[in-house]
Amino acid sequence: MKLPAETVARLRPFYEGREVCVTGGAGFIGGHLCDALLSLGASVRVIDDLSNSTLQHLATLIEFEPDRIRFLHASVLDDDALRDACTGAQTVFHLAALGSVPRSLEQPQRTWSVNATGTLRVLEAARTARAQRVVFAASSSAYGDQPQLPKVETQLPRPMSPYAASKVAAEHLLSVWANCYGLSTVSLRYFNVFGPRQNPDSAYAAVIPAFAKSLLGGEAPVVYGDGTQTRDFTFVSNAVLATLLAGAADAKLSGHVVNVATGVGTSVNDLAASLAKLCGMPHVQPVHRAERAGDVKHSVADVAQARELLGYQPLVSLEEGLRETVAWYKRSLAGQRA
Ligand SMILES: NC(=O)c1ccc[n+]([C@@H]2O[C@H](COP(=O)([O-])OP(=O)(O)OC[C@H]3O[C@@H](n4cnc5c(N)ncnc54)[C@H](O)[C@@H]3O)[C@@H](O)[C@H]2O)c1
Repeated sequence: MKLPAETVARLRPFYEGREVCVTGGAGFIGGHLCDALLSLGASVRVIDDLSNSTLQHLATLIEFEPDRIRFLHASVLDDDALRDACTGAQTVFHLAALGSVPRSLEQPQRTWSVNATGTLRVLEAARTARAQRVVFAASSSAYGDQPQLPKVETQLPRPMSPYAASKVAAEHLLSVWANCYGLSTVSLRYFNVFGPRQNPDSAYAAVIPAFAKSLLGGEAPVVYGDGTQTRDFTFVSNAVLATLLAGAADAKLSGHVVNVATGVGTSVNDLAASLAKLCGMPHVQPVHRAERAGDVKHSVADVAQARELLGYQPLVSLEEGLRETVAWYKRSLAGQRA
């Protein structure tokens, strides 16, 4: 991911020479965040237990920047490793989590332990290390079946799955650590982030990698429900930009919750049609299966708070993001075949 020159000029003075910790930095969004932090001149420590990722991308970064990136293969439930990762870190980006609503229905206790207890431990490690700010990867799933659209941060959360509940609990922890201990914290509610390197092979794959994999393999994508459900699909560069801005913001952030999205809703049927075209299969119709438990009907964000508090403006449109993503899946598939 290449940041535009204007963004670099805006963020480099803050991140150059800065020590940061990224939990979950081997994952999809975490890997893109590490790319951006290194390009801005930061020194990065990553802690990740590789339970949902591999070292492949980070290994390349370590090869090119051995002095500026360090990897700790450990869980955020391991206090000693966390202390090691956070000591000296001025900013902590906490992205480690077990994602996926369906997985959380199958593994509710493990989801709670990693996502909620893990966040508490990260906050304690950051507090002990006297970090200046913790930026947390929260989730749009917090809104659950709130009917009001677009979703605004002032709405009461109505989580519908163990995953969503664990993310809402973690948001509360961030706010309490700000109030009780004066730690600057902010929770970014990411909305359906997608882009290159998102895993299409997992049983819990997100919708865009799952559709791209089916279509590029010559198969019809599977839509759960009638496909009229909407999502605010957010290209990963947009999510990374908001995350970097949240780390650097002058605003006094003390447990604030901020939507990170585009403000545009797209139905899953329209998404399937766009991807079918980009994958060279314009006539393929999706196969519909029963709606899944825990899935929300509509999810579109109000991004005014991100704009006002962080100066965030999405950089990349859905169309452009989908083009880049499909091109990456094509290259990756061709690489696997070669
Ligand atoms: N991708 C999205 O659309 C989306 C939307 C909302 C919120 N989020 C949140 O953003 C964050 C990053 O998501 P992602 O899509 O990159 O997922 P991901 O699974 O690719 O990344 C999460 C990383 O955390 C690591 N991890 C899991 N348990 C761990 C533990 N106990 N200790 C240390 N590391 C652990 C995994 O190995 C993985 O590398 C997550 O917190 C996720 O809940 C993502």
